Amino acid sequence: MTDKPPVVALTHLGKTYKGKKKTIVTALKDLSFSVAQGEIVGLLGPNGAGKTTAIKLMMGFAVPDAGEVRFHGNIQKFAEPRPNTGYLPESFKPNPHLTVKEYILFHCGLSGISKSRAAQEADTLLGHVGMDIFAHRKISDLSKGMGQRVGLAQAFVGNPDLLILDEPTSGLDPVGRSEMIDFLIAQKQAGKTIFFCSHILSEVERVCDRIGILVKGELRLLDTRDVLLEQTDSKDLDEVFKKEVLCAQS
Ligand SMILES: Nc1ncnc2c1ncn2[C@@H]1O[C@H](COP(=O)(O)OP(=O)(O)OP(=O)(O)O)[C@@H](O)[C@H]1O
Ligand SMILES: [Mg+2]
Repeated sequence: MTDKPPVVALTHLGKTYKGKKKTIVTALKDLSFSVAQGEIVGLLGPNGAGKTTAIKLMMGFAVPDAGEVRFHGNIQKFAEPRPNTGYLPESFKPNPHLTVKEYILFHCGLSGISKSRAAQEADTLLGHVGMDIFAHRKISDLSKGMGQRVGLAQAFVGNPDLLILDEPTSGLDPVGRSEMIDFLIAQKQAGKTIFFCSHILSEVERVCDRIGILVKGELRLLDTRDVLLEQTDSKDLDEVFKKEVLCAQS
């Protein structure tokens, strides 16, 4: 019997961008890690560390300079739709002319959900993210946090097995953040695999099986919280994070 390949595996990924005045910005260097079935992996890193770039490469929205991306053992190319995957981009901008429910129904249609099931699916998802009471409000009239909740609902349309979320709690108030983390935990309990990046150490700590720390495009650590504390002789994740950022700058 062979072991199942990981849900996602990144191998030796590198990415540079063209900066101003012909400079080269190195966004990722030799990034390798995998996410196993049913795992929640969170990636922490300061602004500009390369988190969104890693997610874009994972999703096929950018071409790596080096390395490869595999889903379930299969190489994934640039712009190739990822199988059974829900995605929340960093800058989520839904169509402002639709109402919240119309927007989710639209995505239900894209996911191949029949019209008869779509209304129920939309109501359920909007309930999960606390947006059922605003179902008929226009997207253009939502606050930032409300928009983010709609983005999360959109990522869960079609009940995907894998969720890739770029700062899922960005813009949410503390209660909303906590609710969202509870929702992600419930998703894990239902067997989902989740990869997300965040700036909020406490939520990563609460929800993740393993935590990665990315600084200046390099994955410095990736392990369970307890192993990270032990490896770096730290009392909490905040200390681990600060040590790694300082070390990368020195
Ligand atoms: N399209 C682009 N063109 C040029 N440089 C880019 C581009 N996208 C990202 N970068 C640069 O690549 C590096 C990594 O950016 P990235 O957006 O991946 O970081 P991040 O960790 O997601 O940051 P944040 O926490 O602020 O979202 C940064 O130096 C950024 O300026
Ligand atoms: Mg980002």
